[in-house]
Amino acid sequence: MAKDVIIACDFSSKQEVANFLDKFKEESLYIKIGMELFYAEGPSIIKEIKNRGHKIFLDLKLHDIPNTVKKAMSVLSNLEVDMCNVHAAGTVAMMEAALQGLTRADGSRPLLIAVTQLTSTSEERMKQDLWINEPMDKVVMHYAQNAKKAGLDGVVCSPLEAGKVHETCGKEFLTITPGVRFADGEKGDQVRVMTPAQAREIGSDYIVVGRPITAASDPVAAYHRCVAEFLG
Ligand code: C5P
Repeated sequence: MAKDVIIACDFSSKQEVANFLDKFKEESLYIKIGMELFYAEGPSIIKEIKNRGHKIFLDLKLHDIPNTVKKAMSVLSNLEVDMCNVHAAGTVAMMEAALQGLTRADGSRPLLIAVTQLTSTSEERMKQDLWINEPMDKVVMHYAQNAKKAGLDGVVCSPLEAGKVHETCGKEFLTITPGVRFADGEKGDQVRVMTPAQAREIGSDYIVVGRPITAASDPVAAYHRCVAEFLG
């Protein structure tokens, strides 16, 4: 099973991304592109990063009726991204449709993962706003099981949930975990964090790391430190 460090490139323009990637010379990276950059720059940002030889996790978190998600996914599949995602709240039927849309004529496809509950949603808000009355960890595990049932490859979750997701859905089911910080680094707005080494111990398959790398005084050194700690 491939384990990797995914760099969250939360920049607001193509130029800023290019300046960041220029620092890495010949290295092949795994880059996460989010809504902000994709909506601002369009599909050309994907082509540019691919042309530099990097892998892409396109983090657009699709959530719509199954037919619309299926068609949208087939567009993303043609962009040759390596990983993309949907909200598990869209139901098993929507996730199945997403997988169909993503699968190319030759049977190949990018990895497809599900967002369970966003970490910005507290248990209290989930109860009051969404009328979901089960405890958060039960909801996350149920959504992960739904994603597995639909044939998806894994879920985005907190590093603290990764072990339980593997227990519930099996070792092969991928856990992609943000909220990673160096032991001596700033936490910023992340509350529940783990170091790359702790994320490895708990069984995260991919860690998503943004500011500890992108805002470091030496991003290349910070990336190498992260890879060394995570891959051991
Ligand atoms: O800069 P930082 O390391 O906090 O970046 C983490 C990345 O992971 C950001 O792109 C953030 O949007 C994303 N993310 C997260 N928590 C989630 C889901 C995604 O931090 N639950």
